[in-house]
This record gives sequence, structure tokens and C-alpha cells, in this order.
Amino acid sequence: MPILIPTPSALAEAAKRLRAGELVAFPTETVYGLGGDATSDRAVAAIFEAKRRPSFNPLIATVADIEAAERLVEMDARARRLAELFWPGPLTLVLPRRKDSGLSLLVTAGLDSVAVRVPEHPVTLDLLRAARIPIAGPSANPSGTVSPTTAAHVEAGLGDRVSMILDGGPCRVGVESTVLALLTPVPIILRPGGVSREQIEAELGPVSLVLEAGKEGPRSPGMTGHHYAPSLPVRIEADRPRPGEAWLAFGTSPVAADLNLSPSGNLTEAAANLFAMLRALDRPPFTGIAVMPIPRDGLGLAINDRLKRAAAPRAA
Ligand code: TXA
Ligand code: MG
Repeated sequence: MPILIPTPSALAEAAKRLRAGELVAFPTETVYGLGGDATSDRAVAAIFEAKRRPSFNPLIATVADIEAAERLVEMDARARRLAELFWPGPLTLVLPRRKDSGLSLLVTAGLDSVAVRVPEHPVTLDLLRAARIPIAGPSANPSGTVSPTTAAHVEAGLGDRVSMILDGGPCRVGVESTVLALLTPVPIILRPGGVSREQIEAELGPVSLVLEAGKEGPRSPGMTGHHYAPSLPVRIEADRPRPGEAWLAFGTSPVAADLNLSPSGNLTEAAANLFAMLRALDRPPFTGIAVMPIPRDGLGLAINDRLKRAAAPRAA
């Protein structure tokens, strides 16, 4: 499918195709999204089909601003505060769905809540303003695989499934948005991501973190154990590579690195490099990928979450 530089005419064409129910891949600051009209059952069904995503796993409704979000969900004072601070930005809020939202029920997989986000990327915002509809926008990769941070990654995974790919260059953040549920008195981070737990707690006080299946409380249906996986086995918190393994370092490496997420030990740089480097090492002659330990503060929580899923045991 054509990879297009997002000129005004390419954006107008993309908006037209979205309004006609076609799928368009678009850049965001986190990862590339697979966009479809969130008010159209047909378009949303096509997203699930293209990604081979289980239909019980709801999608994010991507919108241009707080006003557009308020047409879809009930925003309480906490939601408004976070939205004013972090939107546009890598934060997704899960809030009660408005009865008159107009969203396809497939977007929310039958839940009473909707995940909404305003991405911090001029191309996404221009596209949303041109299309004038909420865009259902999961990551633009086949379900279970490593998320795309370049247009070429999208083409490799879903190229024959989309009507066009808008190329916004490499994604600045590199890991997905933080998914925060504001449905209970204590907010719950359903997926750590580009806005850190510390940043959220500075505004709302303590929040809880749901990472493990089996814990009490609402969960993100998408957070299955095994996810974000390259084809080669991934081994995390390794102190050195075993024979045949690629060595993905962070900071000062004890042995020569095949790639280094951030030679200076910077978590922002490591997040931006994570998915592209996992992809780059996912090939012969390597037989596995060993990754050095990464600190868990700030963006480190999201990085460790994705690595843990990449390393989780796989179904046969
Ligand atoms: O950074 C991002 O969020 C990217 C870019 C493209 O915007 N999108 C993305 O979408 O990562 P997706 O569909 O791959 O991940 C959305 C996550 C899933 O884990 C899903 O289960 C969860 O959000 N989610 C969506 N709606 C939800 C809801 N109503 N309640 C709980 N979790 C929800
Ligand atoms: Mg995804």
C-alpha cells in the first residue's frame, strides 16, 4: 500500500477514505495506529479482522481535543485535570461511555467504558480535524506482535490490509500510551506507558497498577501475558548473552553489544528505540534476544512491562 508523506492533499485523501469506512495507518507520538471510523461497525470490524485481534479486546477512540472526548465519555474532575495537563500526549483515559456517544459498540467490546486519547502528533491532529469523526486506533500491527514505530514497520505487518499509510517518521515516544481507568475512587493503571505513574500520582495521589492477570479489579482485556513478541525467544534481566543470543544492552555493557537501547542509560531514549531494536535483532544468525536489566522508574515501568510480555512463555 502507498506510504505517503502527509501533505495537505494526502491528509485530505486520508480523511476522505476514513469517512468512507476504509482503514488508514497514521503516526502518533507513541506508535503507529490503524485507523478506522469509530462510529462505523463495518470499519471497526475491518480493524479487528486486519489485526486478527480478539473481538473482546476494546479499541481506543482517538480524538482531536477534550471537547471531542466529552462527546464520547463522561469526564469527571480528575479526568478533566489530567486531560488539561497531558493532552495532547501519551495518556489514554478509560471513562464511562455516554449513551449518545455514537460509537460503534464493537469499539468498546460491549463494555460500558471507553478508552479515549488525544495524541501529540501534528499529523494525527490534522487528520482528526479533517475527518471530523472519532478514529478507532489500535497499534498498527498484527495482534501479539511488536508494535510499529515507523511506516516501514506498518507496511511489513499490515501493508496489504490498509488503504494507505501516512508516514510521520519514527515515533518520538516509542512505547504505547499509559491506559488509566478512572472508574473507581482509586484510579488504576491498566497499561504503563508514555506518561509515568509518578507524573499521574503527582496530580491524583496514589494510583494502583494492574499488571498481573488474576488480581482483583477491572483489567485491560488486551493485557494478555504474551504480547509484543518478536519471533525469537526473549530473555530479560540477563547479565550476559548465551551463545547464539543477540545482546541488547542498556547503559554500560559488560560485553560488546549488538545494539544498545541507550548507551548513556537514558530511559526516554531506550523507550524510543525499544521496538525498532527488538525487530532489528529478530533474525538469523541469532537464536534468541537477551536484554540487560532496565530500571523501573519513569518510562522504565512501561519498558519492563513490554519486555516481560515479549519474554513470556508462548502458546504452542
Ligand atoms: O499509544 C497508543 O495508545 C496506541 C496509539 C496508536 O494511539 N494505541 C494502542 O492501542 O496502543 P491498542 O488497541 O493496541 O491498545 C489499547 C489498550 C488495550 O490494552 C485495550 O485492552 C485497552 O487499551 N482498552 C481499550 N478500551 C478499554 C476499556 N474500555 N477498558 C479497559 N481497557 C481498554
Ligand atoms: Mg497494541
